[in-house]
Amino acid sequence: MLALDRVTAVYTGRAVLHEVSLRVAPGEIVAMIGANGSGKSTTLKVITGGLRPVGGQVLLDGEPLEALAPEAVVGRGIALVPEGRRVFPRLTVVENLRIGAYSRADRNRYREDAARVFELFPVLAQRARQEAGTLSGGEQQMLAIGRALMARPRWLLLDEPSLGLAPKVIDVVWDAIQKINADGLAVLLVEQKAFAALQLAARAYVLENGRIVAEGPSATLAADPRVKQAYLSF
Ligand SMILES: Nc1ncnc2c1ncn2[C@@H]1O[C@H](COP(=O)(O)OP(=O)(O)OP(=O)(O)O)[C@@H](O)[C@H]1O
Ligand SMILES: [Mg+2]
Repeated sequence: MLALDRVTAVYTGRAVLHEVSLRVAPGEIVAMIGANGSGKSTTLKVITGGLRPVGGQVLLDGEPLEALAPEAVVGRGIALVPEGRRVFPRLTVVENLRIGAYSRADRNRYREDAARVFELFPVLAQRARQEAGTLSGGEQQMLAIGRALMARPRWLLLDEPSLGLAPKVIDVVWDAIQKINADGLAVLLVEQKAFAALQLAARAYVLENGRIVAEGPSATLAADPRVKQAYLSF
């Protein structure tokens, strides 16, 4: 179980997360939705060791994570697909995937894992020797997800994977998330496209100005008039 317990986080003196509590159980898909600046990326940053909370705890199977460096968090089985993809543009698709596997002890299983990535995203196999910077936005998103999978995580955190993508490409990414989840990974999906995220996730949290203002089964949230009005217009 990955859990945040009343996490408060501060940037230069200003609190941007206020006692945020959430949990993601093994095998679950959980969504976090919220407007621009509500603290979604900051929440992921706290989980992945990029920002130390000033209050509360991040727990993985009951053990605190918040004092660990980002590499150590990856080593515990948590991988992040960052906002804006951030693939290495001058490296090829294959080289980007190799970097994803770098933190692992059993790097010899690289081929097996790369094969799974190419199975999920066949277009990446066609582009294997192409520089990542020459890929389309959708292909870069697929590569960013693939790179994260190369760390063999048990938890996959996705920061707005649908941003800027055409509906057809979003379908490909959504389909891959479902398959990844079927492989046994738990997924925390951060999205502004709330309606689509609620269709994919069984449960969700709504973040507003750094606070969880609603949580529950996706169907319940999708039917909540307040949530509908604020978030489900797109
Ligand atoms: N490095 C930083 N230094 C100072 N303030 C920051 C920093 N990063 C984010 N913030 C502020 O923290 C708040 C939460 O930002 P965050 O990026 O977590 O929001 P978000 O929900 O991910 O937004 P978006 O949907 O635009 O990605 C915002 O007010 C933002 O301006
Ligand atoms: Mg963000």
